[in-house]
Amino acid sequence: STPSLILAIETSCDETSVAVVEDGRIIRSNIISSQIETHKKFGGVVPEVASRQHVESITWIIEEAVEKAGIRLQDVDAVAVTQGPGLVGSLLVGLVAGKALAFSLGLPLIAVHHIAGHIYANRFVQELEYPSLALVVSGGHTELVVLEGPGQFRIIGRTRDDAVGEAYDKVARALGLPYPGGPHLDRLALAADGAVQLPRAWLEPDSYDFSFSGLKSAVLAALNTARMKGLDLAADHVARGFQDSVIDVVTEKAMRAAKQFGAKQLLLAGGVAANKGLRESLTERCRQSRLPLVVPPLELCTDNAAMIAAAAHLKWERGEFAPMTLKAEAVLSL
Ligand code: KG4
Ligand code: ZN
Repeated sequence: STPSLILAIETSCDETSVAVVEDGRIIRSNIISSQIETHKKFGGVVPEVASRQHVESITWIIEEAVEKAGIRLQDVDAVAVTQGPGLVGSLLVGLVAGKALAFSLGLPLIAVHHIAGHIYANRFVQELEYPSLALVVSGGHTELVVLEGPGQFRIIGRTRDDAVGEAYDKVARALGLPYPGGPHLDRLALAADGAVQLPRAWLEPDSYDFSFSGLKSAVLAALNTARMKGLDLAADHVARGFQDSVIDVVTEKAMRAAKQFGAKQLLLAGGVAANKGLRESLTERCRQSRLPLVVPPLELCTDNAAMIAAAAHLKWERGEFAPMTLKAEAVLSL
């Protein structure tokens, strides 16, 4: 059969992205316009500013994605959009653009869950096997998800407070690092020659849930105490202590869950999947347990539309299309 071409749009947060993907696995184009420089001044994403910027960028990014893919709009077989979760004003921009394209070209519309996108970014590395376990770590999410079959997700654990990326960004901010702080903390931690001792939130012995607000508070308290005593806590020691605590807990829980649910693969997903310390720790533990680890390439860890197309392709194969009345959802279950 002729290959399928899916045009996907992702605008759930502060990246405007459009991709054209062939058969769910071959990236023909993946244009990502980051608003980080705009939001940096505010120390975080300002929703109203984000939606306005999506409006300004979406049209030329669609044109660029089509051009770069070397196709014409008429060659596209389906249009995929991120339905949620995310900032509703941002999601709406992509959703409306997607509907307009699908409607005018007479194409099916496919609704994709943002986290399904992050998980299926791993399809660009290799085809997924089932059951597998996904460790989803992003700015808005921290979840352990069992993939029982294509598009069949079962969340077995989630954060009870802050997401990992959110904790990274808050701790980085307390250390005076620019937004988003995750990559800066990662770099500091890896180069550190010592570590501040910080707590680990294991929760109940059999729980796959996470909690990071206590760790974040412990960092802030340590910084305050040092400041009051006129001491100087080295930023890299704080970064290392924080990162060690996060990595210990997520690695341990992911390994335990993979074993309990008989996962054939461990999939890493979300913006924090770019974390070098986390990649190293999981690589080592998976090697010891002879569990195949699949990690997306760095540029596909943070928000992008190619991952949305990869997830949409499974729905395309099943003919699971969305109605034109599709709504953007700030909160949406997998
Ligand atoms: O998936 P993503 O692009 O957006 C959401 O869907 O949330 O994730 C962004 C998050 C930010 O919190 C950012 O600080 C974090 O991913 N991040 C990292 C690293 N690179 C990005 N956190 C730790 N280490 C990194 N290397
Ligand atoms: Zn994301």
